Amino acid sequence: MPSEVITMNRPVQFSPLAGARTTVEGSLAYMSGFGNSFETEALPNALPVGRNSPQKCNYGLYAEQLSGSPFTAPRSTNERSWLYRIQPGVKHQARYRKVSGGLIRTAPNREESTLPIGQMRWMPVPIPGEKLTFLTGLRTMTTAGDAEGQAGMAAHIALVTASMTDEYFFNADGELMIVAQQGRLRFATEFGVIEIEPGEICVIPRGIIFRCELVDGPARAYVCENYGGAFTLPERGPIGANCLANARDFLTPAASYEDKPGKALLHVKWCGEMFATELEASPLDVVAWHGNYYPYKYDLRRFSPVGAISYDHPDPSIFTVLTSPSGEVGTANIDFVIFPERWMVAENTFRPPWYHRNIMSEFMGLIYGVYDAKPEGFVPGGASLHNMMLPHGPDTPAFEQASNEPMLPKKLTGTMAFMWETRLPQRLTKFASKDAPIDQSYLGCWSGLKRRFDPSTPEPQW
Ligand SMILES: [Fe+2]
Repeated sequence: MPSEVITMNRPVQFSPLAGARTTVEGSLAYMSGFGNSFETEALPNALPVGRNSPQKCNYGLYAEQLSGSPFTAPRSTNERSWLYRIQPGVKHQARYRKVSGGLIRTAPNREESTLPIGQMRWMPVPIPGEKLTFLTGLRTMTTAGDAEGQAGMAAHIALVTASMTDEYFFNADGELMIVAQQGRLRFATEFGVIEIEPGEICVIPRGIIFRCELVDGPARAYVCENYGGAFTLPERGPIGANCLANARDFLTPAASYEDKPGKALLHVKWCGEMFATELEASPLDVVAWHGNYYPYKYDLRRFSPVGAISYDHPDPSIFTVLTSPSGEVGTANIDFVIFPERWMVAENTFRPPWYHRNIMSEFMGLIYGVYDAKPEGFVPGGASLHNMMLPHGPDTPAFEQASNEPMLPKKLTGTMAFMWETRLPQRLTKFASKDAPIDQSYLGCWSGLKRRFDPSTPEPQW
């Protein structure tokens, strides 16, 4: 599958605020930090100095603000950026028409969805031979909450066999977290270009226009659509200032732009429906920008896990990379949690995740390797769903092994699983319940757990 090579005008000058580091990966330039106020320009002096909206902008650019939060949001959650572009956004649209959203679904999806009473697992959704762009290749698996109420999420699988060509997209319903699982993906956005490979994620906030391209062949990704509060770093409490996801490892693209007249199509997901409008030029025409509302990427392999160094298996919340707050303290709209490479050293401890039931609903994926609680059946590219209050935990082989293995330090290597955990129950789409490859044998993974109760002695007899 040939990948289209995009040509964007590379930045010739950066002017990040003090403290920001610029880094170059291949031909792409990024600025480091999470939640920083960045400023970047692809032409010298394209950014106004000392004001946002001068009477006339340099180079004949238009100034435009993109607000990611209400104007009056508290400073800690106030997000907006100023864009200096060839044409203002109003010129990058005509009349919208409703179009098919394919297999994309939005909460509440009550007419179609079923709320499964039972634990679910899927094998990887195969990547077909047909032409699928990031947009036409999106298959919604679960939805939770209500997009118009700005609460909840959707979990999608993206199957990509073709780059978007003269096609663009923005999502008004939520921000997108793309978790690359197979193949690299390049996102050309209004703010610059981001490329990710398996092990990396990209977050594209609500409303930002982008085009997705293949880099080196067909790709599969997990995609979370977050209807709620923007993903942010979790509080670290007693852990202190360091470890988990460190702010400096988040990368935001330097400004780059396309000055590309010609027919193009802009797709918009808005209140659960898909619309399209014709364009006369590429909307990726932002020559300079500053602010704190922008897309970013993160390499999950840079996560510094903190865990048990004495006994017991801590709650998985210690592996939270990003969290979408719900407004209720400690009750996430979504927690994005990973299970990366790490040492297991706890003594006299059942080391894998324990059996449990949870008020939160857990959608899991496996990017690569083996997940320690499910050494069999949960394969890279697959997924599982453990909905509100439904019991789950290690399968029989994991229980047997972890109950009998010597308590020596052990490293889990070459593995990266993740979870989107939401306070809201997740409904299955028709695709997930009928067309996706359901693992019908999933419940059998616990059938070998034996009854071992013996009231005559407290000493384990096995
Ligand atoms: Fe769980």
